[in-house]
Amino acid sequence: MSSELIRIFDTTLRDGEQSPGCSMNQQEKIVIARQLSRLGVDVIEAGFPIASEGDFQAVEAVAKEVRDVIVCGLARTGAEDIARAGQALEHAASPRIHTFIATSDIHLQHKLRMSREQVLAEVDRSVRQAKSLVDDVEFSAEDATRSDPDYLVQVFTAAVEAGASTLNVPDTVGYTTPDEYARLITDLRARVPGSENVIYSVHCHNDLGLAVANSLAAIGAGARQVECTVNGIGERAGNTSLEEVVMAIRTRQDQFASIDTEINTREIYTSSRLLSSITGVMVQPNKAIVGDNAFAHEAGIHQDGVLKAAITYEIMTPESIGRASNDLVLGKHSGRHAFRERLDELGLQVEGEEFEKAFLRFKSLADAKKTIFNEDIEAIVADMVEAEDDRFELGELSITCGTFGKSSATVELKLDGTSSKCTTLGVGPVDAIFKGISQLTETKSVLEKYQVHAVTAGLDALGEVSVTVSEDGRRVIGRGAHEDVLVASGKAYVHALNKLEWHKRRRPLTSPRGI
Ligand code: KIV
Ligand code: ZN
Repeated sequence: MSSELIRIFDTTLRDGEQSPGCSMNQQEKIVIARQLSRLGVDVIEAGFPIASEGDFQAVEAVAKEVRDVIVCGLARTGAEDIARAGQALEHAASPRIHTFIATSDIHLQHKLRMSREQVLAEVDRSVRQAKSLVDDVEFSAEDATRSDPDYLVQVFTAAVEAGASTLNVPDTVGYTTPDEYARLITDLRARVPGSENVIYSVHCHNDLGLAVANSLAAIGAGARQVECTVNGIGERAGNTSLEEVVMAIRTRQDQFASIDTEINTREIYTSSRLLSSITGVMVQPNKAIVGDNAFAHEAGIHQDGVLKAAITYEIMTPESIGRASNDLVLGKHSGRHAFRERLDELGLQVEGEEFEKAFLRFKSLADAKKTIFNEDIEAIVADMVEAEDDRFELGELSITCGTFGKSSATVELKLDGTSSKCTTLGVGPVDAIFKGISQLTETKSVLEKYQVHAVTAGLDALGEVSVTVSEDGRRVIGRGAHEDVLVASGKAYVHALNKLEWHKRRRPLTSPRGI
């Protein structure tokens, strides 16, 4: 029997990117978008073009770059929003405009200050405008799960009549429960005329930890598109986690008979790692599917069982999500060819000059460290994803530290292409380096968090540092990887300051996201 497909609508670059510390610049978004295409998602929601010039350019760039996936831009129902989304998607091979307006009385009264009739008129107008620009229009009724179901029927009926082909039923505040959500989808499908010709989509937030369960229940009730993010990143407690919903369907084919996705699950782990290394936001160790411990069996009785037969405690294999060949190592004798093959296996597209740079970094790491793991290679590549318009570039670093007195650091830094140097003292080496960087860049930002993480096991592991800095209510995370954690620290701090500069230039402080 052939399977009915569930479309995977990935909103890592839009809803996910809205979560604290997860903002990405254009180049980072392109790297993630390429990986999402390898992962096999059906739709990439690349951003919210009206929100800022930066968001507009990122959606446009992703639309030009990724040709085998539907690329979607979000828009409120305003004419300017929709026109801007249409412009950003002009070069897309398969463009989609996703327009939304809130439908719950709570939002109508307190946020929109509009009547139900006014909202209905907006739905009709906006969907028709979007439809005049692109063929593929999705409409979302924001806060659908707290909306009056009878009114929702009217709203979705208007959207279908105006030409929407996907109807999204968001649980914007993560409030619903699986049974209730399934009933709502069933009810809408039965009552909205023309339902048989549209796709019902679900978009869940995880405030009660139910996002995946709610999405799966909605599939059972006939929803055929799931909106989700890699690692479940997103506003507040996050969105439905892509890897969890996909692996639940794949692993429980007895429950989801004749339903599947087109996700290449072997790309899941790489996608998760890539996103973590770009945003600096690591997943918790016990996170389902992609957490460090998701396949680790600690208890003796479990280990014994798994050794005898993996099925005793393992419901899916690490290989199925691409976690397998971790002990397959590269070393200092590995050449360009082996390195290229490994990049291909990891789904990392690095070409031309970037490839040469990555290869040199790999060779120098291999000189310092016996074995190079996949995580090391991912960290090298993620570390190279720098914005072309970076203001600051870290040069040489020299550090003196120990128990004799204060630590000192001499830091060289290029600022808009001009090199300068300073020597600073600190209570420890990281403090000394950061003081030097802060002095040279004249940053007004506040350092909120500093985290070090060994990319792999072993004393010679590559150190990955992530640094959270904030200024005027903007918060960004920078990361850096190096065999020397002090160098990784300097790189992470400079990366964060570059991101902050990028946001200051590209994204207004009060973004009109309103969601
Ligand atoms: O959570 C939400 O309601 C949204 C909509 C824009 C779909 O993100
Ligand atoms: Zn959302």
